Amino acid sequence: MNRKYRKTIIAGNWKMNKTASETAAFADEIAPMLPKKPECEIVICLPALNIAAAQKAMRGTKIRVGAETMHEAASGAFTGEIAAGMLADMGVKYVIIGHSERRQYYNETDLSVNKKVRAALDAGLVPIVCVGESLEQRELGVTTELLDYQVSAALSGVTAKELRHVVIAYEPIWAIGTGKTATAEQAQEVCANIRALLRRKNDARTARAVSILYGGSMNAKNAAELLAQPDIDGGLIGGASLKPADFTKIIEAAAQG
Ligand code: 13P
Repeated sequence: MNRKYRKTIIAGNWKMNKTASETAAFADEIAPMLPKKPECEIVICLPALNIAAAQKAMRGTKIRVGAETMHEAASGAFTGEIAAGMLADMGVKYVIIGHSERRQYYNETDLSVNKKVRAALDAGLVPIVCVGESLEQRELGVTTELLDYQVSAALSGVTAKELRHVVIAYEPIWAIGTGKTATAEQAQEVCANIRALLRRKNDARTARAVSILYGGSMNAKNAAELLAQPDIDGGLIGGASLKPADFTKIIEAAAQG
């Protein structure tokens, strides 16, 4: 973390979990646990269907409700999809883009991720852009090259000024939902490389202003060590964000670094 130059962000990704009533119960349970003045931005990205209910339930807490995905077009004949402008109109700020599950199960490509980043920025949203290597790619020793490519592709056409409204999440695919966390050194190395790329493609001031999160089996136990790394500015948390006590512990860990 480096609070002097950029925001620390603890973001939950609920994936396809919790009904609207379970969301309200979560809000009731976590509200008294949360620090009065958190040292970080707290976000929970959840299914679009439950955004309105979540906003209502979490009013009065410091939690911001975000979205898990969106379509790249502004409007049109895309049955079942949700546009950036619809999220912005609901008061949503953050939207996850290019999560590995979207890339794997819904054929999202580097090109569609780039289009979504553009659409999100145009609508005034802050995209949380997910990148990360598979186990095979790590073992082949191409992690740096791959991540350079993924980040460059996702951010193609994004100006330095716009980049200040982008969050990057490094999520090694082999660490998602597996209980296998990247070591703090591994995660720091990749996040530092991403920042170095942003510096090369833009400038040092812009690169140091971008929050880079780590995601992949982050939990109440390992969060402090990961968040203590200089280039890890927060977490994108799946499983542990569903449990009020665990998510609160991670938020508390963000206050220590
Ligand atoms: P887990 O924390 O459950 O591994 O999920 C990480 C993730 O995919 C967050 O986007």
